[in-house]
Amino acid sequence: MKIDVILGLQWGDEGKGKIVDYLANRYDVVARFQGGPNAGHTLVFDGAKYVLHTIPSGVFRADLVNLIGNGVVIDPATFKKEMGKLDEAGVEYKSRLFVSKKAHLILPTHRLLDATSELAKGKDKIGSTLRGIGPTYMDRTGRNSIRVGDITKPDFQARYQALKDKHMRIMKGYEEHPEFDLAAEEAKFFDGLENLKSITAVDSEYFVNRCIRNGKRILAEGAQGSMLDVDFGTYPFVTSSNTITAGVCTGLGVSPDKIGEVIGITKAYCTRVGGGPFPTELHDEVGEKLRKEGQEFGATTGRPRRCGWIDLPQLKYTIMLNGVTQLVLTKIDVLNIFDEIKAATTYIIDGESTDQVPYEMDEGVEPVYSSYKGWATGLENVKTFEQLPAAAASYISALEKELGVAVTMVSTGPDRTELIDRSTVSI
Ligand code: GDP
Ligand code: IMO
Ligand code: MG
Repeated sequence: MKIDVILGLQWGDEGKGKIVDYLANRYDVVARFQGGPNAGHTLVFDGAKYVLHTIPSGVFRADLVNLIGNGVVIDPATFKKEMGKLDEAGVEYKSRLFVSKKAHLILPTHRLLDATSELAKGKDKIGSTLRGIGPTYMDRTGRNSIRVGDITKPDFQARYQALKDKHMRIMKGYEEHPEFDLAAEEAKFFDGLENLKSITAVDSEYFVNRCIRNGKRILAEGAQGSMLDVDFGTYPFVTSSNTITAGVCTGLGVSPDKIGEVIGITKAYCTRVGGGPFPTELHDEVGEKLRKEGQEFGATTGRPRRCGWIDLPQLKYTIMLNGVTQLVLTKIDVLNIFDEIKAATTYIIDGESTDQVPYEMDEGVEPVYSSYKGWATGLENVKTFEQLPAAAASYISALEKELGVAVTMVSTGPDRTELIDRSTVSI
């Protein structure tokens, strides 16, 4: 048995949560492998909307096991809030939610450092979600961090204090300090830790590999997007983890030969939230129309998302990095109102045409667009690829031809049922 992967091919918010939730009942386990509460994955079904941050998007499917892998960073306080939302919704999950002992903890002072670092950067700030992600992964790599498996150890308090002291020493090097009620945040953290103890902590690498050996089907759920990958994204305007397929191996403890289908998700246009380059960004009324029609506001921070046309050189790059075997095109309904749809097919850089993403994706990258006819009609009644309006079908074919990967699912609305599916991920 192999692990299938779902991940975002752009700068995040491609609709990963929706697609994971849709496909989850074909699997036995859904596992998050990286990121933390910077993620906001939205699920809409039965007239209700849920946003998940740390808990995998398979949690609403009865009997499905959900695992938070070692590559994930956990904020016990926000995790408790998230569990509270599931309790309110009447979801039974405690017996089938597991967390890796090797997942790292986000401390209140990690969030304080995140805020302080962003403040110091001024106009050059990353636009972090301020969830403490960067500082936590720094401590992980720096071999200072505290993991879930340490919570019950007798020296936990001392280790917490040592790490906090280190953070406070770093804080002294900054001139400006943000508003932050550390005592209140610490109270929430320790309350959250007690709650975290109610979730079974496992040796997740053995857990996952045992599942594979026993023929269980596993779906790995990515967070953020490939252009936010710490190695291959638009550095330094990235997150601090490996968001690409390779991150599944290190974030769950599985060998590369265990990777099966890689399902890459892209919006039919493109968005980004936070700072950093975005060659196809539209600063005009078309961008505004995309934002309004697509309701492009962050699921975690509520910030307006920057909007633009789909960028095919960018997608070719992330398809290459991830080994994508199937594409999912989401939010195609947002384009219903457009007479003309565009896609960047190449870049002009220093007067030369290229379809390669350059070392720095800055202002020097000038996208060249192809234009496609809009379909100018609603897609509510479209349930199969064959029922798609001709213009929509031809837009999808053009993308497939350019990208060299089949589009096997098309999402036509936020609801779980609003999906056209010809995927080869079988039950
Ligand atoms: P994720 O982080 O990749 O899981 O994506 P988000 O949940 O942050 O953002 C995607 C947003 O688009 C959410 O509000 C979804 O409910 C919504 N959404 C997902 N698929 C579709 C779609 O096909 N059409 C429309 N209109 N909205 C969608
Ligand atoms: P999902 O999983 C979109 C962005 C932030 C910022 C940069 C670094 O919902 O797709 P961080 O908090 O990680 O230090 O922020 O990455 N970012 C996201 N953008 N969707 C996300 O997650 C994101 N998680 C982080 O806006 O630009
Ligand atoms: Mg999101």
